[in-house]
Amino acid sequence: MKQNIVLIGFMASGKSTIAKELSKKLDFFLIDTDEVIEKSTGEKISLIFENKGEKHFRELEKKLFKSIKKIDGFVISTGGGFRIKKVQKLGLVVWIDTPFKEILKRLDEKELSNRPKAKDDLKNLKNLYKTRKKMYKKVSNIRIKTKDKSTEEILLNIIEEIKNYKND
Ligand code: S3P
Repeated sequence: MKQNIVLIGFMASGKSTIAKELSKKLDFFLIDTDEVIEKSTGEKISLIFENKGEKHFRELEKKLFKSIKKIDGFVISTGGGFRIKKVQKLGLVVWIDTPFKEILKRLDEKELSNRPKAKDDLKNLKNLYKTRKKMYKKVSNIRIKTKDKSTEEILLNIIEEIKNYKND
């Protein structure tokens, strides 16, 4: 049995891109929770938030969590608020830790359009970042700092850390 690798981290931290490449390298399947929710509802996340509210979106995440609890051999890329307190139940949790400054640089118009929670004012966004950071720290098995690293370096880092973690 291959244990799932679960990527967590703040919006625009790089989870989706890293998950895609990591699943190829490890020969794992790939799930992106935001993508599954969009495909299954036929709606963009921004529209779900707008029309039905955040609470409804969190319910969809909850449902998805239940349905993927039994899978294995997947790299799971999660939305920034996806069942953070329970995420360890899905597999080995890797926190993609990207500095707030870098996140802000990435959140340009295009990236903002489908990230309703990122549209808040700067102070609130920074507060959310701080709160989430504490939570990610608590639930992650492995922390990967991405500052000044290329995707390839991050991938090698993750693979090495997973090996070390499993040999401990
Ligand atoms: C959210 C993060 C988003 C998406 C939704 C809510 C959050 O995913 O799930 O907009 O609460 O942090 P990304 O982390 O992929 O942007």
